[in-house]
This record gives sequence, C-alpha cells and structure tokens, in this order.
Amino acid sequence: MERTFVALKPDGVQRGLCGEVMKRFEQKGFRLVAAKFLQPSEDHMKKHYMDLKDMPFYAGLCKYMSSGPVFAMVWEGQGIVKMGRMMLGETNPADSKPGSIRGDFCISIGRNIIHGSDTAENAKMEIALWFKDEEFVTYTPCTQAQLYE
Ligand code: RTP
Ligand code: MG
Repeated sequence: MERTFVALKPDGVQRGLCGEVMKRFEQKGFRLVAAKFLQPSEDHMKKHYMDLKDMPFYAGLCKYMSSGPVFAMVWEGQGIVKMGRMMLGETNPADSKPGSIRGDFCISIGRNIIHGSDTAENAKMEIALWFKDEEFVTYTPCTQAQLYE
C-alpha cells in the first residue's frame, strides 16, 4: 500500500472545504491513516517547500502557508500518489479540469486550496516532516475486500 500527504491550505480551510476534500478521498476508497489541524510555522513550511527555494514565489508561499489553519492528512491506497494528484488537478486552477478539486473550487495559482505529494519519494519525506510514528492509526477497513482483488 502506498501513502500520500494531503493538506488543505489556509484558503481551503477558510473556505470550508475540508469536508468536501475528505469526502472525495473517502468515496474513492482511500483510507485515512493520520490527520491533524494546526497552524504551521514559517520554518516548517520552508522545509516542506524546500525544493522550490529558488523560485520567486517561495518566500510568499511559505509566509502564506503559515498565516492560518492547515488541515494535514495522510491517506493510503494503491496508486494513491498519482491518483491523488489527478484528483487535485493542475497546479494552476485555470488548467485544472472540472471534476478535479482545484478545477471545481478555486481560481488562482497562489490560492489553489490544497497540497498533495507529487512523487512516492516526496510523499515519504513530507509524511515524516508532518507526522510522528505514534500519530498513525492502524485499523482494517471493513471495505478492504470490496475495494481490492
Ligand atoms: P503543492 O506542492 O502545493 O501541492 O502544489 P504543486 O505541486 O501543484 O505545485 P508546486 O510547483 O509544488 O508549487 C507549490 C505551490 O506554489 C504556488 N505557486 N505559485 N506564482 C506562481 O507561479 C506559482 N507557482 C506555484 C502554488 O500555490 C503551488 O501549489
Ligand atoms: Mg508541489
């Protein structure tokens, strides 16, 4: 099973979209294994977006991400990193298809409401940055046998 890190950004939380995003991941069949609601520090966001440190929008992005509440989650399922990114849509909501989260709920690239890991390797790093081992809940979903062959 693969895991991915998904987080509602401050704009997504303020716009009341936590439930909508959780609904989409739940109804797809993915399994929530950890979640928390927090206001991350700017230092934390600088680590999270380290690969973008040379981009002109890096400082503003990290400042914005630490300016309000974030709903951070780890979801699990087969192929979830790639599928999760498809469910999110493109980075720029203007390029995101209707039916995707960014395609349905936002307009501008700097307020694209949600983060999702882009590779399995980055997912592992992000999960380790945001969650401790003891914050994961281990359980067997009763739907497992109906979701997977
Ligand atoms: P994220 O990491 O937040 O899931 O977004 P992403 O992979 O789709 O895009 P990424 O390249 O990692 O960029 C991170 C966030 O930076 C903001 N951004 N602004 N002004 C710009 O040209 C620009 N480009 C990126 C976006 O909010 C993007 O989600
Ligand atoms: Mg990214």
